[in-house]
Amino acid sequence: MIETLTNRTSVPKLIAPAPSSEQLEQMIQSAGRAADHGRLRPWRFIVIEGPGLDAFGELMVAAQRELQPVDDELAAKLVKKPHRAPMIVAVVCSPKEHPKVPEVEQLISAGASAQLLVSSAFALGLGAMWRSGNLMFTETMAKGLGLADHESLVGFVYLGTPAARAPRPQPLDSRDFVSYYRG
Ligand SMILES: Cc1cc2nc3c(=O)[nH]c(=O)nc-3n(C[C@H](O)[C@H](O)[C@H](O)COP(=O)(O)O)c2cc1C
Repeated sequence: MIETLTNRTSVPKLIAPAPSSEQLEQMIQSAGRAADHGRLRPWRFIVIEGPGLDAFGELMVAAQRELQPVDDELAAKLVKKPHRAPMIVAVVCSPKEHPKVPEVEQLISAGASAQLLVSSAFALGLGAMWRSGNLMFTETMAKGLGLADHESLVGFVYLGTPAARAPRPQPLDSRDFVSYYRG
């Protein structure tokens, strides 16, 4: 239904239960339908849940230390961040060598897969929020999540049950965004 696309909103506050394994599978199948030049599948997904959320919080602290000294107060704040949802899916761009498909196209495709995760979560009645932040771009984060040198993180999709739903979004005025080329 088109409404699942036009009415989608992000949900910052997500609570348990996490998506079931069936729901997660459906979302991954949806993400795998991202437009994908050359069918290269330039993405992969790392699921973080349960004790993984604690470990991910510690990884955030380590990644922050790559950028600046971290005192106890900041460390305590960071370790809590992954617990804003019962599940996080880290979306990784995993580009492949191809004579006709540049890396930037593969990055766009991985981004499209992240959007499909978010959109399919909404379609399933779940909540989702695509987050990033400067820690996502640190070497500590990449290594900690086991990324290869040629891979990069596209986003952290926080998933769960909406604590509250945002109001239905206002339609945008498409005239602000659309023009017609007539030569
Ligand atoms: C690549 C990317 C990174 C994002 N990172 C963050 C983030 O770190 N924190 C945040 O609050 N929103 C972030 N957002 C925006 C939210 O996911 C969301 O789209 C925004 O809050 C607007 O809400 P809506 O999706 O309901 O329109 C990011 C979006 C994208 C596409």
